[in-house]
Amino acid sequence: MTDRHHLVGLLLGAEDDWPRAFEAIASRIGAFEYGGTRHVLDTERVHIAPFNLRDRARHDVVIDRLAYWYYHPREWLKKVALMDDVYLLNSPFTFQSMEKHAAYCALIRLGMNVPDTVLVPHKNPVDNVRWAYTARNYNDPFNLAEIAREMGYPLFMKPFDGGGWRGVSRIKDERDLLSSYDDSGEMLMHLQKAVEPFDVFARALTIGPETMVMSFRPDEPMHNRYAVEHDFLSAGVGQEAVTIAQTVNAFFRWEFNSCEMLIQGDSVLPIDYANACPDVAVTSLHYYFPWAMKALVRWTAFCAATDRRAKLHVDPDPWYAVADDPNLDYTDKLASYQRLADAHFDTDRYQEFCASALADIDDLVLEWVSSTEFDTMLLDTIRSTYPAEEQDMFIGHFRGLVDLWISDDAAIRTPH
Ligand SMILES: Nc1ncnc2c1ncn2[C@@H]1O[C@H](COP(=O)(O)OP(=O)(O)OP(=O)(O)O)[C@@H](O)[C@H]1O
Ligand SMILES: [Mg+2]
Repeated sequence: MTDRHHLVGLLLGAEDDWPRAFEAIASRIGAFEYGGTRHVLDTERVHIAPFNLRDRARHDVVIDRLAYWYYHPREWLKKVALMDDVYLLNSPFTFQSMEKHAAYCALIRLGMNVPDTVLVPHKNPVDNVRWAYTARNYNDPFNLAEIAREMGYPLFMKPFDGGGWRGVSRIKDERDLLSSYDDSGEMLMHLQKAVEPFDVFARALTIGPETMVMSFRPDEPMHNRYAVEHDFLSAGVGQEAVTIAQTVNAFFRWEFNSCEMLIQGDSVLPIDYANACPDVAVTSLHYYFPWAMKALVRWTAFCAATDRRAKLHVDPDPWYAVADDPNLDYTDKLASYQRLADAHFDTDRYQEFCASALADIDDLVLEWVSSTEFDTMLLDTIRSTYPAEEQDMFIGHFRGLVDLWISDDAAIRTPH
């Protein structure tokens, strides 16, 4: 039997940790069998060069971490998706046009508990010669303080297409409101009701049909934001968090995304869920990094080996049929959304694929995370991330968390 090789392109910014992890795991897997064929994942870091629109891409799957700010590779991604059937994590067709604001709209329509949100016109004139005329004739005067008073303080003001905490401010009174609006300048801002106090901040990282819901501490420095905590949500709330994250992704055809939700009692309030380039650095995810790498390799392997076809555009109808069904309550709707998400991600077949074609991935990743190769990757990442005087502290910190994962993972899989 000849092996079928699938080329996976990694389109990267400055990161080197997870690409090394991905390359190491893919190469340790070597050939795997599925559907009577032996498959091999080859990896290649994608370089940026002039391309003829008629060139044919050699890749089967591309994992993109760059195109949200670098437009040449973004246009290459569109070309290879449209012309060469390359499967993308994520597709710029929906990530470019459907940012945080669109995701709020969709989830509100689907009946989720998105906090009350108002989109406010730009503070400063838009850079266009026609603006003065248009604004004079069509911009209604409005009283921002009155809108805020009606919504009730505290509020958050943040860009409609936010990311990386750019331009986010918490607003406790009218003074904060006016100064934040002045500062917003040419950014287009949402005003959103603060969810305070909340019991838990849950951040769900989703890759294909796999979701890890983690307890998140946004006020901590980056290396300490994800708490290693298990069972911090009741079963029902945990499932709701998974369903919300997978609904957003299946609805918009996103594959690799993180979703932030605030939990108040039994209510789950989604506040941020359009991250085209979710943070997967080993220095952020630490304990959860091996899971994320496994999920990324598994989903990529599945997409390649099953020749999964990308859907370039959203199809809201089946979702809205559930949303608008007067006979369904919120719990029924969540169950229906989960079924739609499972159908979109082909979850049953995916699980069967993981169990048969990649049955040894858990052992192989445990062995790799325990190896000096992993430790070298960790040390290189720490050295390139932190100042010299802090490196020893971080080496101890992250090695400790990785060792904890190793012992937990070994314990889970050792038969008692
Ligand atoms: N409605 C809200 N209620 C309470 N806290 C909020 C709300 N909106 C935002 N925040 C806080 O502000 C932070 C940043 O907001 P948000 O996640 O929407 O912006 P972002 O630019 O996408 O940030 P990041 O890329 O770091 O996720 C959140 O992590 C949360 O701590
Ligand atoms: Mg956020």
